[in-house]
Amino acid sequence: MPRTSTCRVCAGVVGEFLDLGQQPLSDAFVLRDHRPEFSYRLAVGLCERCSMVQLMEEVPRDRMFHDAYPYLSSGSTRVRAHFEEFAEGLLRSTTEPDPFFVEIGCNDGAMLKVLADAGVRHIGVEPSGGVADRAAAKGVQVRKDFFDEHVAEDIVARHGRADVVFAANTLCHIPYLDSVLRGVLTLVKPNGVFVFEDPYFAEIIGQTAFDQIYDEHFFYFTVRSVGALAARNGFDLVDVRWIPLHGGELRYTLAAAGARPAAHSVGDLLSEEDALTLADPTTLARFADKVERNCRDLTATLRGLRDAGKRVVGYGATAKSATVLNFCGIGPDLIPYICDSSSTKQGRLTPGSHIPIRPPAAFSAPRPDYAVLFAWNHADEIMAKETDFRDAGGRWIRYVPHVRVT
Ligand code: SAH
Ligand code: TYD
Ligand code: ZN
Repeated sequence: MPRTSTCRVCAGVVGEFLDLGQQPLSDAFVLRDHRPEFSYRLAVGLCERCSMVQLMEEVPRDRMFHDAYPYLSSGSTRVRAHFEEFAEGLLRSTTEPDPFFVEIGCNDGAMLKVLADAGVRHIGVEPSGGVADRAAAKGVQVRKDFFDEHVAEDIVARHGRADVVFAANTLCHIPYLDSVLRGVLTLVKPNGVFVFEDPYFAEIIGQTAFDQIYDEHFFYFTVRSVGALAARNGFDLVDVRWIPLHGGELRYTLAAAGARPAAHSVGDLLSEEDALTLADPTTLARFADKVERNCRDLTATLRGLRDAGKRVVGYGATAKSATVLNFCGIGPDLIPYICDSSSTKQGRLTPGSHIPIRPPAAFSAPRPDYAVLFAWNHADEIMAKETDFRDAGGRWIRYVPHVRVT
């Protein structure tokens, strides 16, 4: 019997298409004297009614987002530049004399810092205390809360309605989207917009980027599923734009139903999605086969290198890497350590697989022969920093879209 669950958007039947097994929380980097780790079953399904792709099992939100949440948006220069550019665009395009902007999941303030510096009214809603404090230290107005309809009502009561509500890599983290969208409808001005960007399911399928699947990524959006989600909640999907970050994302713009016409990009991408047969069981089964093959190839490559006496390390202790390491059964015997620039992760062990995390300085002393690029979405930035590794004969191991040594 195929496993099913109930759709978090429309209460339809969700049919499972990929089981990645028991997994620890992807951002729960442990200290050496770790206690037994929390685990959950990581599996993904497709709603046969509204086509929303989602996890079969939900992890309670405060287990993932808390004071010690380690992810920092500002860890990548390119990501920082992307958000600064977005904020500058907001400032340029507003015609309001005293505009007000709200960001859901502002993390360490990479985007809102620009608005704070410009003296423009804003609020970031961010439940993870440590990263919220980092944003506040940059002068950003932060409210430490999980955004929902109650928080939205309270913001309106205190500050009035917003011109734009923005969320990056956050909406897909929130299973209770009905409450969030009710909140945004209350919060945004009648002619305002809700803009959000998240990993694109078509890219995950197209690139076999199965490591995008982990506890925090509850939803995997498409234009079709977001269009249906918008319509159920009093919005129209009026624009979509491809964003060259994190392996390919879409930026969706929602407006109150009937307030704005839809751009051509919406219909164009819908047709593209139909041609890709994203909701077809054979497409999903083929993806699941590729994931299995990818893992087999990666472990075989790493075992071969270990047996040949080569030194292999990892680069980027991403949340994504938790899925790869734990699904493929890769531990410190194959990868003795992973280098990562986040002070919040260094000195800890990767969840489940318990590979030590070291600062990037450990990458050159001593030089490894091979490095697995777990932060493949930051390949350009990392390669540009680590040219010495290649110059000294070092080789990168990639596993998206397939395993290869470059
Ligand atoms: N926007 C940043 C951070 C993404 S990480 C970026 O794109 O880089 C996801 C963030 O969403 C985390 O900081 C997490 O604490 C926050 N988050 C999770 N659930 C939330 C909710 N219900 N409301 C607001 N933020 C939330
Ligand atoms: P990222 O891929 O952005 O996200 P996720 O954790 O959601 O999968 O994480 C990138 C990780 O790589 C982060 O821990 C910081 C690290 N990193 C470096 O160590 N050096 C770098 O130059 C960059 C860009 C990232
Ligand atoms: Zn559904």
